[in-house]
Amino acid sequence: MVNEETAPYGSSTPTPAAPAQQAEASVLSVKKVRTVHLQQAKDAGEKFAMLTSYDALTATIFDRAGIELLLIGDSAGNNVLGHESTLTITVDEMLPLVKAVSSAAQRAMVVADLPFGSYEQSPAQAVATAVRFMKEGGAHAVKMEATAHHTEHVRAMVAAGIPVMAHIGFTPQSEHTLGGYRVQGRDGGQVLKETALALEEAGAFCLLMEMTRSDVAAEIDASVRIPIIGIGAGADVSGQVLVWQDAFGLRQGKMARFVKQYANLYDTLFEGASAYRADVRSGVYPAAEHRFDS
Ligand code: KIV
Repeated sequence: MVNEETAPYGSSTPTPAAPAQQAEASVLSVKKVRTVHLQQAKDAGEKFAMLTSYDALTATIFDRAGIELLLIGDSAGNNVLGHESTLTITVDEMLPLVKAVSSAAQRAMVVADLPFGSYEQSPAQAVATAVRFMKEGGAHAVKMEATAHHTEHVRAMVAAGIPVMAHIGFTPQSEHTLGGYRVQGRDGGQVLKETALALEEAGAFCLLMEMTRSDVAAEIDASVRIPIIGIGAGADVSGQVLVWQDAFGLRQGKMARFVKQYANLYDTLFEGASAYRADVRSGVYPAAEHRFDS
C-alpha cells in the first residue's frame, strides 16, 4: 500500500479504468497477444492496431485500450531524444525504453526496433542485438528494416527463437539511399513483391509496410500469407501502426498524409502548463487543499 505522504513522485498510480473489452467474438480476445493470434486475425479477416510507445505510462494506457502491439521504434530518436533523424539512436539508448514498455504491457506484444548499425554487418550481429532486446529489454519480438539482402539475417534470428517483423516499403534508415521520404511502389512494386515473398520465406511472422502505393500494398497482402501492418500503405492490409505523438497531437508541425490525429495533446499540455504558471505566479496554487497545514 502506498502511503501518499511519503510516496515518491508519480508513484501513487490511480486505479485505471477497466480495459476496453471486445464485445464481439474475436480471435484477438486473448489475454496475451502472440504471433499466432496475428496470423489468425489475418486468416479471419480481422484487423489489429499497433502504436509506438517509449515509456511505461503510455504503454499502460495503450495496452489497456486494447492496442495489440506496442513498438519501441527507432523513432524514439526523434520523438524522445530530440535527434534530427532515426539514424543516430543506439541500442544502449533504446534498451531502457524497451524495458519500460515491456514491464508495463500486460496483453500487448512488445516489439523492439533494431536501430541503424546494429544488424547490417552480419546475421550474427542481428542475432546478438535482437537477443539483447529480448533478454535485457523483455521484448517479445524485433522489427528490422529489410531488403531481400537481409533474408539470412531474418533466418538466423528466427532460428534463434526470435520472432521477426520485417519493415519494407519506405525504410527511413535508408532515406539517403532512397532519395528522401518518398512513396514506394510507384513503379508497380515488382521488387517490393519479391522482397515480401523472400522475407516471408525466411521466416518473418509479419511485414510492416511504410509509405507504399495502396494498390501495391493490397496486392502484396494478398500474395503473402503473413499479416502486413501498414503505415501509409492504405486500408487493404491486416493492421495499422502510427507514431503515438503524431496520432494524439503531441508533436506539432506538418504531418504525413497518412496520419490521422485522434487528440490534441500539444494544446492540452500547453494550456495546462500556462495555467499552472499563472497560478504559481498569482499565488492561487497551492491552495489550502494542497498544503500540509497541521
Ligand atoms: O520507428 C518507428 O516508429 C517506425 C514506424 C514505422 C512506426 O518504424
